[in-house]
Amino acid sequence: MRRVTLTQYLIEQQRAGRINADLRLLIEVVARAVKAISVNVSKGALADLLGEAGTDNIQGEAQKKLDVIANEILFQANEWGGHLAAMASEEVEEVHQIPFDYPRGGYLLLFDPLDGSSNIDVNISVGTIFSVLRNPGKDTEPSEQSFLQPGREQVAAGYALYGPSTLLILTVGNGVHGFTLDREMGSFAYTHPFMTIPVETHEYAINASNARHWEPPVQRYVAELQQGSTGPRGKDFNMRWVASMVADVHRILTRGGIFMYPMDEKCRKQGGKLRLMYEANPMAMLVEQAGGAATTGRERILDVVPHKLHQRVPVILGSASEVERVAAYHREG
Ligand code: AHG
Ligand code: MN
Ligand code: MN
Repeated sequence: MRRVTLTQYLIEQQRAGRINADLRLLIEVVARAVKAISVNVSKGALADLLGEAGTDNIQGEAQKKLDVIANEILFQANEWGGHLAAMASEEVEEVHQIPFDYPRGGYLLLFDPLDGSSNIDVNISVGTIFSVLRNPGKDTEPSEQSFLQPGREQVAAGYALYGPSTLLILTVGNGVHGFTLDREMGSFAYTHPFMTIPVETHEYAINASNARHWEPPVQRYVAELQQGSTGPRGKDFNMRWVASMVADVHRILTRGGIFMYPMDEKCRKQGGKLRLMYEANPMAMLVEQAGGAATTGRERILDVVPHKLHQRVPVILGSASEVERVAAYHREG
C-alpha cells in the first residue's frame, strides 16, 4: 500500500503556503532526531541505557541517561541546518546558542527531550514534546527574553510518542496530523489525518495521590466524576494515569477525556508541576487544534504571558465541555 510520508505531507503544506522552507526543514530535522531517540529508547538495557545519569537538571530533578541522550540528539540534529536562531530545553538552564560555524535562521525551538522519565526503567511509553516560535529580534544570540512569548504565538507544535509504535503528532496551525514510524522504510507514514478530540467522554487522568493537596474546584470536579451514575453527572467515569504526559494526552486526542495536573499545595511555590514553554504550550496548541480546550483553571494556557523559560503552570486540558466545567468551578471559587 502506498502511503503519504511526512516529507510529502510537509512539501504539500509548503505548496499550500502554510509553512516555508525553513519550517519544513525544522520539522524534518526534529523528525530525524525522533527516529534516533526512538532507536535509543527501544534498546534499553541492551545498550546500558536505563537508569540515572548521575546529574541533576535545572529543575533539580535527577537526570536519566536517556534524558541526556535525547537532549544531545535534538541539539546536534538542529544546530547545523540554518533554520534556527536558538534552542531551549528542559534539561538545560540557559538558552542553547547555535555554534558560530553554522548559519542562523528565524525560528526558536523548545523541547522536553524525554517526557515521562520515571517510566523509562519500567518499559512504559515515554515521549518528546516540542514547540516552535519565531525569533522576534535580529540578534545573533537570542536571549531568554526572545523566548518569552505566549503560546498562541507558536507556529508549530508536536510530540513523539515512543510506545508500541513510534508516533509523531504535529500541528502547523491547520489541524492535528499523526505519522507512524515505519521502521523498515525508515520514514514516517501519514496515518492519522485531522485528529479531533471526541466530544463525549468517560475518562479522566489525574494523579489522585495528590487529592488532599488540590484546590476546592478540582476536588469538587473529581468528586463528582467519582460519584458516577449516582452523582450529579449521571454516568460512570473511568480513570487512567500513565504519568507520561505525552501518553496521557495522546489517549485524549484519540478517544477523548480530560487530563489535569492542577495547582496544588505541593507545587504552589513553583507555580504548578508541568512546564509552560515546552510541555503545556505545545500540548495546549495541539489540543485546541483538535477541537479541545486547555486552561490553567483561571486562564487559557495559550494566553499565559511567560516571565521565565522554565516557568511552571497548572494544566487542565482535553474535551472542551469538561475543561469548561472545571474552569467554571474555578470561577465559582
Ligand atoms: P518529565 O519526565 O519531562 O520531567 O515530565 C514528567 C511529567 C509528565 O510527563 C507527567 O504527566 C507528570 O510529570 C507525572 O507526574 P507524577 O509523577 O506526579 O505522576
Ligand atoms: Mn515532561
Ligand atoms: Mn523531560
